[in-house]
Amino acid sequence: MTRKILVTAALPYASGRIHLGNLLEMVQTDIWVRYQRLSGADCAFVCATDAHGTPTMLKAREEGVEPEAYAESCRAAHMRDFEAFGIRFDNYHTTHSPENRALVERIYKRLADGGHIRTRTIQQAYDEQAGMFLPDRYVRGECPSCGAADQYGDSCSVCGATYAPSELVNPRSILSGLPPVTRESEHKFFRLGPFEEPLKAWMRASNLDRGARNKLAEWFKEGLKDWDITRDEPYFGFKVPGEEGKYFYVWLDAPVGYMASFKNLCGAGKDGEERFERYFGADSEAELYHFIGKDILYFHALFWPAVLMGAGMRTPSGVFVHGFLTVDGQKMSKSRGTFITAADYVAAGLDPEYLRYYYAAKLGPGLDDIDLSLEDFAARINSDLVGKLVNIASRCASFISRGFEGRLGPQLHDPSLHEEFAGARDEIGELYESRQYAKAMRAVMALADRANVWINEQKPWELAKDSSRAGTLQAVATQGVNLFKVLITYMKPVLPRVASDAEAFLRCELAWSEVAAPLLNARINQFKALAQRIQPKTLKALVESSQEQAESGSGRSAPIDIEEFLRTDLRVARIVKAERVAGADRLLRLTLDDGGKGRTVFAGIAGAYAPSMLVGRKVVLAANLKPRKMRFGVSEGMVLAAGEDDSRVFLLSPDEGAEPGMRVR
Ligand code: MSP
Ligand code: ZN
Repeated sequence: MTRKILVTAALPYASGRIHLGNLLEMVQTDIWVRYQRLSGADCAFVCATDAHGTPTMLKAREEGVEPEAYAESCRAAHMRDFEAFGIRFDNYHTTHSPENRALVERIYKRLADGGHIRTRTIQQAYDEQAGMFLPDRYVRGECPSCGAADQYGDSCSVCGATYAPSELVNPRSILSGLPPVTRESEHKFFRLGPFEEPLKAWMRASNLDRGARNKLAEWFKEGLKDWDITRDEPYFGFKVPGEEGKYFYVWLDAPVGYMASFKNLCGAGKDGEERFERYFGADSEAELYHFIGKDILYFHALFWPAVLMGAGMRTPSGVFVHGFLTVDGQKMSKSRGTFITAADYVAAGLDPEYLRYYYAAKLGPGLDDIDLSLEDFAARINSDLVGKLVNIASRCASFISRGFEGRLGPQLHDPSLHEEFAGARDEIGELYESRQYAKAMRAVMALADRANVWINEQKPWELAKDSSRAGTLQAVATQGVNLFKVLITYMKPVLPRVASDAEAFLRCELAWSEVAAPLLNARINQFKALAQRIQPKTLKALVESSQEQAESGSGRSAPIDIEEFLRTDLRVARIVKAERVAGADRLLRLTLDDGGKGRTVFAGIAGAYAPSMLVGRKVVLAANLKPRKMRFGVSEGMVLAAGEDDSRVFLLSPDEGAEPGMRVR
């Protein structure tokens, strides 16, 4: 019977931009889904934007738009990023959808009817100026344990202590900068404790890695606490029916968003209803898997299954948890330039397929962190993908097109070698199935090594010199092309673009079920390079430009007094010359007339302005910044612009009449 599988990846927050860490998860999930489909399963993959919560509400306010519109524009940006990386969702929905509202209300009602909800009054930090309750992360102050300055309200990044925001010394709201007051509010709590035994049973019966089980065991030991599932207005979310000014907490409706996205995919009609029931009905035989990062395990392995049990719905068949991405051994960081977004990566001209391969080569089934080493990245791509895999085809294909009019021979030179390659299929499939991608990649590359050694031994280039051995040459080259075909079929889940180019080259579909059948007597196309070597520099340049971008980055700042502000020497300047900077896509080198001896400034505005648009234009210059040494030269100040995106930058210009050198204040 065909397996019916529904797969989800964690729903990225609307307010965040997709970065290499999110992509680790998406690539891991997408590879699994592609493998399932390739090997014949009926596998659906849904995701959505996690639209709700305080950050979305505040970001939308900052941009002066409605939160719905803001979340929609984020959804579009997410979809564009994921598409560039070959992530093939069946649906990328939003949690702010009618389907989700209906499901959340239904689940909440069942929980309430089942006696799983309690009402309790809590004390919470409140910002009187902003007029709202503050999530823990919106309160900062000195750590009560070690005294470190400027720590979040839930935990200290210096000593690791965890505490309540009320325990911070000198607490401040990050919204107003004022000390928060404590206010009471009535909230709804989901009672988790009674689900301890059913959760333990679920854990034993479901597909969870050892690392995740260990974490759960710790939590069971600590004891399961009630979970606060409501928030006060103002909030962006779904209103709790029958309650004044109360909303469902974003983390209640987010996992329900998995179901809602699938519901939306199924459609509203009778067929859709039935399909949805086949997956989510209590006696469903479909498998349901969630791919998540280790930071959100509690939500997925305790709250979520318990909520589903409480609502009388099916529980997940498994939760697949990955570790965190580090770059060069450290946490991704904006200031180090290692917080790289999907859009940055694509803009740098790097092939998304390379990242997919690199992640696959590093991923195992566990919670271990995965390191992206900049040196190693280029080395692996060049040695494995270009040097080993693609090389097999490029070494053999030319003999076929030159000597045999593009026709493969009637037989292989060494059928048993081909059989051996094809015989690895089930083992490699099992490695994909169990998410041991690193092992799968090693197995494929070991075969690629063997193929190359074999070609070396056969020396087709020697055979080609002797016309009496044309038959042997054709059989050898045909063998090489077919070994390549087997291996590229194995790589299809990881390298969809390369595989589809290979299909065009071989003029056949690469099917998992067909690996054992060699392609013989068939015409193939001229071989075109399927992957290019990359320069180790490329990724370094990307990091440097992200770093420069971060330095000029955005963010709310603490209040300053006027004297402090006036220490910035702002002047009118005129752009005399504007040039692109080789190796830094977003930068322009501006030569400025500043009313004095002139100066050079690098500005990250190349995404929005062509150099020719700028010459003669007057701008505002921050003139007394310390000169900053960059890779391309020294920047002697900064020109002011509005906006924070690369493509949405707006230079500030004085009105007619202002002259270079004039003070701005
Ligand atoms: N919105 C929640 C998930 C709700 S699911 C019902 C959320 N969003 S997130 O945008 O912060 O993270 C989305 C996924 O990306 C999570 O699984 C998270 O673990 C993962 N990652 C975020 N940063 C990461 C790394 N640096 N490395 C690997 N994965 C990371 O959490
Ligand atoms: Zn501390």
